[in-house]
Amino acid sequence: MAAVGSGARAGHENWSSRSAFILAAVGSAVGLGNMWRFPAEAGENGGGAFVLFYIFCVLLIGLPVLLSEVLIGRHGQANAPESVRKVARDSNAPEGWSVLASIGVFAAFLILSFYCVVGGWVVYYIGVFASDLFQTGLAGGAFEGRNPDDIKALMPGLFGDGSLMVALNLGFLAVTMFFVARGVSSGIEWVAVYLMPLFFIIFLAITIYGAFTGNFGDAVAYLFTFDFSKLTGEVMLAAVGQAFFSLSLGVAGMMTYGAYANRDTNLGETSGIIAGADTMVALLAGLAIFPIVFAAGLATNAGPGLMFESLPLAFQQMPFGSLIGLAFFVMVFFAALTSSVSLLEAPTAWTFEKFKIARPVATIIVGAGAAVLGALSALSFNDLAEFYPLGFIPLFAETNFFDTLDGLTAKLFMPIGAILTCIFVGWIADARLIDNENGLDGALHKLWRVLVRFVCPIVLAVILFVGLTS
Ligand code: PHE
Repeated sequence: MAAVGSGARAGHENWSSRSAFILAAVGSAVGLGNMWRFPAEAGENGGGAFVLFYIFCVLLIGLPVLLSEVLIGRHGQANAPESVRKVARDSNAPEGWSVLASIGVFAAFLILSFYCVVGGWVVYYIGVFASDLFQTGLAGGAFEGRNPDDIKALMPGLFGDGSLMVALNLGFLAVTMFFVARGVSSGIEWVAVYLMPLFFIIFLAITIYGAFTGNFGDAVAYLFTFDFSKLTGEVMLAAVGQAFFSLSLGVAGMMTYGAYANRDTNLGETSGIIAGADTMVALLAGLAIFPIVFAAGLATNAGPGLMFESLPLAFQQMPFGSLIGLAFFVMVFFAALTSSVSLLEAPTAWTFEKFKIARPVATIIVGAGAAVLGALSALSFNDLAEFYPLGFIPLFAETNFFDTLDGLTAKLFMPIGAILTCIFVGWIADARLIDNENGLDGALHKLWRVLVRFVCPIVLAVILFVGLTS
């Protein structure tokens, strides 16, 4: 068989089509970051100021970095550090630049560990709504006749049960490992091609339903009123971190997926589709969740609990509430799985290519490591609540294991990985090689070069500095 991409090596897998690549990459981007982390971050960082700065970050920083990452991957046709090394070699630059991707691979592994914990919560709520549907039937709201306080108690109940949290985490991780072990076309691509369309169908149905039954006014005002005084260094750092988290950047995931892309895929265009779809889902998720939060009189800064606490209350009021609640959490599960698969794939691809072992073996090794860290994250809501691993650093004072990993990756590893990626693509790598890959021309191409060379690294460095020192 002819090699698919010019750099394709024997045994290297590729996506079976351009749309498979887009679905997998959108699947990686759209996930708990959109449905759960975005509303939580917006709520904790003052709403409108955060949201508008977030959109600014996606357009001016996220999108150019996304394109830089997928093009490195496609040129390299290998795991992320190896791809950077190939671009460096072909540009007569030091191969040591691959460290930018090594940091990313490690960050992906860390994120995977706590991401599967939240994935486990989703599984729990699927169970809650499925059993409710089974018991009370279709008609009426969810949890018919139950006191709202019982429903509010669901999440603290789950969080207080350390062994249940660990078990759910392991279950979610095991499903992720199953698909990654099967490989690019029969595992990762399969998940994306079947689950992402289903996700979008359910998402649209629920959003439209919500638009007719909920009150958007307060949510729109909250999310889009820009109060300049609220835009502090910390809020800006949170917004950049969220943009990177949501677009799966700075952690080698998009490089890894780019490596399976064929030569005839226009990467500039594809990056635009990925970023557009991801941002749309995040904003719509915010518009779906905040009306409910306001209506139920819940605090907007409830953080991680926002989605899990406020939505079940809303489903109690809704006609067909059990069914909608079930559909909602199944949909979030699909989105989360297509993301966790990409988080596991980045370190797994590195492991099996580096140590020349079989893919399933590498999957098990990486998965086992993530299981251990994940257990510590799961226990940070109960048995280990007082364990502050980096408590001696002010940014992480009184921050539990889970939040430490989340903050460390989104606020530190991702921006640093992105700064290095921009410097590498904008200044170090051979410009002709890069232009051969990026699929841009004319003014757009010039704009992208300026963004990657100047705007992104400078803005990122300033935000990182301000966020860390303020
Ligand atoms: N982008 C994913 C989400 O929003 C999370 C993720 C981060 C996936 C980094 C891969 C890499 O849920």
